[in-house]
Amino acid sequence: MSSVDTTTDAAGTIGSDRFVEISYDDVIPNNVELSSDKQLQRALETWRPNYLDWWNDMGPEGYQQSEVYLRTAVGVDPSGWAKFGHVKMPAYRWGILLAPKVEGRTIPCGRHKGQPAWQDVPGEYRSLLRRLIVVQGDTEPASVEQQRYLGATAPSLYDMRNLFQVNVEEGRHLWAMVYLLVKYFGKDGREEAQALLERRSGQEDNPRILGAFNERTPDWLSFFMFTYFTDRDGKMQLAALAESGFDPLSRTCRFMLTEEAHHMFVGETGVQRTIEATCAAMVKAGVKDPNDVEAVRKLGVVDLPLLQRKANFHMSVTRDLFGSEISSNAAEAFSSGLKGRFNEANLKGDDHVLQDATYGVSRVVGGKLVEEQVPALRAINSRLLDDYIVDCQGGVDRWNKVIEKAGIAFKFVQPHKGFNRRIGEFAGHRISPLGEVLTEEQWQAESGRWLPNDADMAFIGSLMKPCHERGNYASWIAPPRVGINNQPGDFEYVRIC
Ligand SMILES: [Fe+2]
Ligand SMILES: [Fe+2]
Repeated sequence: MSSVDTTTDAAGTIGSDRFVEISYDDVIPNNVELSSDKQLQRALETWRPNYLDWWNDMGPEGYQQSEVYLRTAVGVDPSGWAKFGHVKMPAYRWGILLAPKVEGRTIPCGRHKGQPAWQDVPGEYRSLLRRLIVVQGDTEPASVEQQRYLGATAPSLYDMRNLFQVNVEEGRHLWAMVYLLVKYFGKDGREEAQALLERRSGQEDNPRILGAFNERTPDWLSFFMFTYFTDRDGKMQLAALAESGFDPLSRTCRFMLTEEAHHMFVGETGVQRTIEATCAAMVKAGVKDPNDVEAVRKLGVVDLPLLQRKANFHMSVTRDLFGSEISSNAAEAFSSGLKGRFNEANLKGDDHVLQDATYGVSRVVGGKLVEEQVPALRAINSRLLDDYIVDCQGGVDRWNKVIEKAGIAFKFVQPHKGFNRRIGEFAGHRISPLGEVLTEEQWQAESGRWLPNDADMAFIGSLMKPCHERGNYASWIAPPRVGINNQPGDFEYVRIC
């Protein structure tokens, strides 16, 4: 095991030390030949102290001086890009890393399909491209802000470390988008890079751009649900942008996807370990009925129906992130070649231009759910959402296996696509998890069974007690099967100070 010792290098100097000459090739791991691009270097030098100010203000509260066992990206080859070592978060080596260039890569979709991929910004699409990068970039610091208070209630040092790993990598994702803005968009790119540090999650006068990123992440169950369901939206968006005809964006996103995989792992295993603790406690106490909530909660674990309600909430809020199912903006992003579909270059069975193709979209017409064929170009968001829902199912199935093995009669399901939506085709309609169109009165009478209620949140809050001793875990969550980087069970993932 190698370790990254950054405690003494210039990356650790923040605030008043900002004028120290910094060798950026040393401080910022990069494979974009940063040292030979003076203009880019200057732009990043100007932005970096502001980033560190933001990190210190809005990053993990209370643990900035603790030493965290983090992985740092130091290369892009799949076998050896990560190094592990104890690092203070403000000294994390946020780097700029692009996946290797694919020689001869062509634009995979739209009206420029088959032409060489752009190495520079295509002038006619400049503002649309900038907007796509800004919207993606805005989600990265937003999630750090949403999660900043969770350290204090971490159910173990292992989980605390995973939270901080996700946080520093979201910070790196911001760097990745800022690199594109300042390298390719001149003055307005630099202004956008600054604005990314100024918006704040949940703040009324200058909120983050997308709704779900202004919601609170008040507890660890929310964090696990967020990293399973909402980071997976991140995966789908990055995958679609990895198909971009603008090659620097494609290469940036391809590398980001390798990090995103860990975030979803944290979410999936976090929920799974919660389920394991619940099932084990129920079996031990002889509680057979998963709906006997009172008996289950007495055991200090989370009842399965509550987990389903939490999942319902996070799924529905995340589905809104895909935007309107039918969208002319999405059509233009696709036709211009700036954003593909999921897995675009490898999709068989259509021409990747979609001029005459159609796609089935669920809509509410005359109080009934129907599927309508609409021009496929205008249904790009709808298709990405459908692909996302399929992608979510794997983890849900694995969670159900744990419950089945314990012999408990309960099964998690994904609610209907239209359930609890605020954006797109289902906004303004009331749809049950099973897909029935409801009246407002029916919804008001029933929705407390489908979404977390105040008593649920209070119960979850009561479980959120810190468990910060080496090798110990809170009652409601099982230990992981394997440690990070194969470390033993009592490993000190965070040296708190
Ligand atoms: Fe991210
Ligand atoms: Fe992520």
